[in-house]
Amino acid sequence: MSAFRSIEWKNDRLYLLDQRQLPAETTYCEYTDYPAVAQAIQTMVVRGAPAIGVTAAFGLVLAAFQSTAATVDGFLAEIQSAGEHLIAARPTAVNLSWAIAHLLKIAQNIDTHTAAHAESDTAAIDSLKQTLLAEAQALYQADIDACKQLGTYAQTLIPDSATVIHHCNTGSLAAVDYGTALGIIRVAHEQGKQIHVFLDETRPRLQGASLSAYEMKAYGIPHTVIVDGASGYVMSTRAVDACLVGCDRVAANGDVANKIGTYNLALVAHAHNVPFYVACPTSTLDMTLASGQEINIEERADTEITQVKGQQITPDNTPVFNPAFDVTPAKYVSAIITEKGIIYPPYEQNLKALMTNG
Ligand code: MRU
Repeated sequence: MSAFRSIEWKNDRLYLLDQRQLPAETTYCEYTDYPAVAQAIQTMVVRGAPAIGVTAAFGLVLAAFQSTAATVDGFLAEIQSAGEHLIAARPTAVNLSWAIAHLLKIAQNIDTHTAAHAESDTAAIDSLKQTLLAEAQALYQADIDACKQLGTYAQTLIPDSATVIHHCNTGSLAAVDYGTALGIIRVAHEQGKQIHVFLDETRPRLQGASLSAYEMKAYGIPHTVIVDGASGYVMSTRAVDACLVGCDRVAANGDVANKIGTYNLALVAHAHNVPFYVACPTSTLDMTLASGQEINIEERADTEITQVKGQQITPDNTPVFNPAFDVTPAKYVSAIITEKGIIYPPYEQNLKALMTNG
């Protein structure tokens, strides 16, 4: 287990480590209502695809606990609407809508059975609330297990002595524990491999410089922060064994949406014959989208670019464009590492087989 947890559920309250304050301060914010949880996701108190999925699940539990509906139908309508509110917080990471859909489906499926056997609607609603909490807690544990498992599978791709480049933050902070790409690096380190990671600082929000460096320091993993534009120079002057990134959504053809700059890194890796590995739990696979062109890419506030720590760095009214993610075409992805195994091209066929057969 990590020295810190991004998400904690205690005494019917949700606690989130405020990632906007790291590494300077370790502050937990407490949540008792779901609109505040949606706002925490939007403002990036918590971020990273698996972490926002699990957070949203607990947000839905808070909506259920808040409900004063007198009937099962009324209760289901309330949590459906809360789910839609939570999903709208950030559009690109599919884990968020996946977690909400998972919980809502469970509530809807047991509704008839529960209502038929309960002595009253109140008893049925109480039972639904407890079921939703148990499911959110199961998702929490499943995320830890999936990340550990994919980290273990990935070791066949990581030499005993390895130099890797990583983008954004994909570790314990981006998930419940371990994380995806940084989880692989952590498992390699725990297995005694000599692993060194170059961390892209990841403009504009600097998740690499602030969060990934914080985690690597906490785990004692050798690391060096570079500016995003340095990855080409690093690959051309050092022996880089692999690029390791996480992702927010994978389309059925293997196109991958991840933090802005991932596509540039993949192109540089391709030019230098460096393997480009993408790591994610299967909850990040979206088989409903044929290709990455269909992925909704979040655009965030101009001030993320025009200001640094509240100080304006551009002339007044400078136009900016701030997509938070980009799409790396499948042809630049050497493998997709999941908790069910490592998937290689052709992705369309192999992802389908993975999702159908497990
Ligand atoms: O905007 P963020 O910080 O939520 O973006 C996070 C990323 O892009 C991560 O690489 C991705 O969510 C995978 S995290 C395991």
